Amino acid sequence: MMKLIACNANRPLAEAIADHLDCPLTDAEVKNFADNEIFVRINENVRGEDVFVIQSTSRPANDNLMELLICIDALRRASAARITAVIPYFGYARQDRKTDGRTPISAKLVANLISASGADRVLTMDLHAGQIQGFFDIPTDNMVALPVMVDDVRRRMDKDNLMVVSPDVGGVVRARSFAKRIGADLAIVDKRRPEAGKSEVMNIIGDVSGRRCILVDDICDSGGTLCNAAAALKEEGAISVSAYITHGVLSNNAVGRIDKSEMDELVICNTILPSDEDVKSKKLRVLSVAPLLGEAIRRIANNESVSKLFD
Ligand code: R5P
Repeated sequence: MMKLIACNANRPLAEAIADHLDCPLTDAEVKNFADNEIFVRINENVRGEDVFVIQSTSRPANDNLMELLICIDALRRASAARITAVIPYFGYARQDRKTDGRTPISAKLVANLISASGADRVLTMDLHAGQIQGFFDIPTDNMVALPVMVDDVRRRMDKDNLMVVSPDVGGVVRARSFAKRIGADLAIVDKRRPEAGKSEVMNIIGDVSGRRCILVDDICDSGGTLCNAAAALKEEGAISVSAYITHGVLSNNAVGRIDKSEMDELVICNTILPSDEDVKSKKLRVLSVAPLLGEAIRRIANNESVSKLFD
């Protein structure tokens, strides 16, 4: 039997996954003591069950991570047969290598913590770098939001004149695969980061003049990458600039910045719950990955192929 448990990072997504699977969320308390320590109690028997804990480690990253770890610990001690950590957005992923002397590889540490808490497997989506999968020594399925985005483009945009744009060299593989799926050309922004959190456009590789551009990326954090890319693309003659982003981290009034920028539309997925303020923006649209994650959960529970979902 399958059990779905939601921590607090993104309850609407967990509920949508539960709806898709027609499997109600298991009754569980995930709350804070007065001193902010986290307490979890599973109010139903889970002995011998196949349990899926749904929690993005988005902002507040440390609280959400601790909720996940403590919930997994509670399930392990309650004799769940198998525990899958469903982490639609895996935070700390950008700290995946030593960028300087005496700095951590936090993504590896977080992967170790999740395994040590008792998770048997991980289901996640659009990891910042595919190789983070290898930081886990337990089976890890890294879903891609691409099919949901491609479907949206096909339904809403005329195919003519589209140009998919990678906002940096690191995102070329993702953008190329997007371009191939919608039959569009590919351009690349040569982005530099003079310091963490700041980005600068150096060059655009490809002729975007007269094109309707679609920027594709895994994360929009401060929005700097997208706003700078949009300004540079319009400067080079792009007719319009939209962006399809898996994880709307949206720190420091990113949506306010995008509202005032050359970006025409920002489309994010609901791996992270957008704030009430952000969803008021006329430029923001949110796509649901609940059916995709729900289907992956169903397949894991039935020992069916998950990679078939990418075909
Ligand atoms: C970086 O490599 C990522 O793919 C994103 O481009 C980056 O995290 C976006 O950050 P920001 O919105 O702050 O420019």
